[in-house]
Amino acid sequence: MNKKDLFNLAKEAMKNSYAPYSNYNVGAVLLCENGNIYKGCNVENASYSTTNCAERTALFSAVTNGEKDFEAICVVGGKNGEITDYAMPCGVCRQVLAEFCDADFKVYVGVSEDDIKEYKLCDLLPYSFDKSKLGD
Ligand code: THU
Repeated sequence: MNKKDLFNLAKEAMKNSYAPYSNYNVGAVLLCENGNIYKGCNVENASYSTTNCAERTALFSAVTNGEKDFEAICVVGGKNGEITDYAMPCGVCRQVLAEFCDADFKVYVGVSEDDIKEYKLCDLLPYSFDKSKLGD
């Protein structure tokens, strides 16, 4: 599965985005090390703070299905479903990804099949707080 495939799957996931309050639609696709993929979209709520981002929807779905090892995520998004810029994962999603993913986990954000940026999770969340700090 290459990054263009991931981009197109993330766009598909974005179609199911439920975002009546922000009208900012997001789709994500998470690639597991075993090749399985899990899609997610943002799911908003009238009680705004309970909104779930697309990245966390995808991750929680994967974990629910027994996945533990992850290779990459691709995220797309835009106002009214129009992808005009890179949809960078929010801080909360970076932290949640860091619970399960290694420093070199890849984060793709794309505007088109030919315009996809790649980051490492450790560069998006440097000096992170993680389970290693909690000891045994
Ligand atoms: N959103 C995501 O789905 N992922 C992010 O990383 C950033 C924000 C969603 C949440 C909300 O539904 C909308 O985008 C506007 O914040």
